Amino acid sequence: MKKIMVLGGSGFVGSQLCEKLARQGWLVTVPTRRRTNASHLLHLPGLTVLEFDVHNEVALTAALPGHDAVVNLVAILHGTQAAFDKTHVALPEKIARAALASGVAHVVQISALGAQDEQPSSPSSMYLRSKSRGEAALMRSAPATRDAGFSLTILRPSVIFGAEDKFLNLFARLQQIAPFVPLAGADALFQPVWVQDVALAVVRCLAQSRSPGGQQPPLVLELCGPEVYTLKQLVQLAGQLSGVRQGRGRPVFGLPDWLAWPQAALMELLPGEPLMSRDNLASMRTPNVAGGKLPGLALLGITPAALPPLAAVYLTQNQPHQGMQGLRQRASRRP
Ligand SMILES: NC(=O)c1ccc[n+]([C@@H]2O[C@H](COP(=O)([O-])OP(=O)(O)OC[C@H]3O[C@@H](n4cnc5c(N)ncnc54)[C@H](OP(=O)(O)O)[C@@H]3O)[C@@H](O)[C@H]2O)c1
Repeated sequence: MKKIMVLGGSGFVGSQLCEKLARQGWLVTVPTRRRTNASHLLHLPGLTVLEFDVHNEVALTAALPGHDAVVNLVAILHGTQAAFDKTHVALPEKIARAALASGVAHVVQISALGAQDEQPSSPSSMYLRSKSRGEAALMRSAPATRDAGFSLTILRPSVIFGAEDKFLNLFARLQQIAPFVPLAGADALFQPVWVQDVALAVVRCLAQSRSPGGQQPPLVLELCGPEVYTLKQLVQLAGQLSGVRQGRGRPVFGLPDWLAWPQAALMELLPGEPLMSRDNLASMRTPNVAGGKLPGLALLGITPAALPPLAAVYLTQNQPHQGMQGLRQRASRRP
């Protein structure tokens, strides 16, 4: 029986991954900043929740011995340069050191599509730049020695969709209340990938665990769905599939740059997670689609799921204000 630590296991992707690992008989450890954040995982067989700050290297190093592998899903979408550096660069560095000290055989890092295009001097987003530097930090550590290094897998997903996503759900909810959507970055390209495909990819990478010792070069995969969409098309789909205006959705207008940037700056000032930040806008300048030079889900024997049929189900179910319309749609889908 293998034992794995999943950093960020309480989150959107992590919850699906923990479910799959636990059901397959893995022993899973999930560190969390607050135990309540992981309470929805406590029923899973063989899963242990540990409350500590993953940024505390002493605590991380103390918790890791005895684990065969570690998966890192911890990330932020918004924040200062210091916050991005701490979460996306310093944490992978700490994971690498702790993994080497504990004899962990395999590290799986969930990065992001587009990270590879970023150079340290690139003017683009803090998010992608820091993701790139986190990858580089792990790559530097992976082949530490032929006998004592860990093997490294880096997975770069496009935007991830699924019942609990904060992407299509958010745009669907927005269209419940707004008469139209003024959209920054409307032409940005995405190749959305299903959360279950991402979780399965991690499980397959772990199952195909390569021999310990760091002899192999890091395996880097791009995780993408079968279709490319513009952001505008995705927002329109979110409105249509969730049944807004009898399935027509709201009108969506692309904003010119001179309006998009101030809008994003304004959103950053609102309380809570911003719907769009200036750094998000900057990251969307890098097309979020497969580059074609790296292997993808096919290498793991996974056929990526298409977005519309899956999103139609959860977006309808997740909209509380659908009333009779939603009820009818749900009833018509029942077998
Ligand atoms: N979602 C997407 O569309 C998407 C697209 C491309 C790449 N990715 C990558 O996929 C991975 C998983 O994404 P996700 O959407 O599942 O992430 P998520 O749900 O937003 O967060 C995962 C977990 O990270 C922990 N966390 C968040 N901020 C933290 C901080 N500042 N310090 C310490 N822990 C923190 C939280 O755990 P606790 O609250 O339990 O501490 C959270 O449950 C990330 O690396 C992300 O960059 C995601």
